Amino acid sequence: MSEPVVEVRGLRKSFRSGEKTLEVLCGVDLCLDAGESVSIRGESGSGKTTFVHILAGLEGFDAGDLRWRGRSLAGRRRAPLARERAVFLGMVFQSFYLVPEINALDNVLMARRMIRRPDRADRERAAEMLDRVGLGERGHHLPSQLSGGEKQRVGVARALMNRPSVILADEPTGNLDEITGNVIMDLLLKVCREQGTALVLVTHNKTHARSTDRELLLKLGKFEAAGGGDG
Ligand SMILES: Nc1ncnc2c1ncn2[C@@H]1O[C@H](COP(=O)(O)OP(=O)(O)OP(=O)(O)O)[C@@H](O)[C@H]1O
Ligand SMILES: [Mg+2]
Repeated sequence: MSEPVVEVRGLRKSFRSGEKTLEVLCGVDLCLDAGESVSIRGESGSGKTTFVHILAGLEGFDAGDLRWRGRSLAGRRRAPLARERAVFLGMVFQSFYLVPEINALDNVLMARRMIRRPDRADRERAAEMLDRVGLGERGHHLPSQLSGGEKQRVGVARALMNRPSVILADEPTGNLDEITGNVIMDLLLKVCREQGTALVLVTHNKTHARSTDRELLLKLGKFEAAGGGDG
């Protein structure tokens, strides 16, 4: 029996602003197995991005437990956690977040730089990942020389560079037209499947949500099982 990749129990998170406290997550549970994909939908402001940032260990939480491969994140020091994060998870963002001054290949290689100085095998791996996302010929192009869909392909290649256990994708198709978004979604699901990588997908797109193993809806600070007949 392999343990869950990510385990969240009774997670609570609120934000204080002045007198007011905004309760965003009010007891959230999630258990994600190796290679499993799950989608999260929910209204704007329901806490999806907050949840993803907490999962990534980038944001703290008030109560509950979060485990990566069975190991709790509570009380962990920043630097070792950042190193572990670079190996454990990859992130794909709505606005791509590529480094504008360096080419596509070096952007993919950035993931490796978080861990160590890249060697020749790492460069080969980065080139292979670009090839995998259909950009084998575009490694020398700067982000400004790529279309939105191509930028996101680089984002997917970068996220998978370190063979992470899980990919967190926060509205990865949110800045793309419908057809390009569908292509990126298919690609993301395919490469995750090939590498046995679990996927947490935040999306407003019901079709994309349906293409994952499990669908969740974040509502009033809790997850509800989603899917079924709501169109
Ligand atoms: N650092 C912060 N300080 C105060 N409030 C915050 C902070 N970050 C998020 N919030 C609030 O928490 C709530 C959830 O925000 P979050 O970004 O997680 O929503 P979301 O579900 O990702 O929305 P969207 O679909 O628009 O991306 C919002 O009301 C937001 O204003
Ligand atoms: Mg968001």
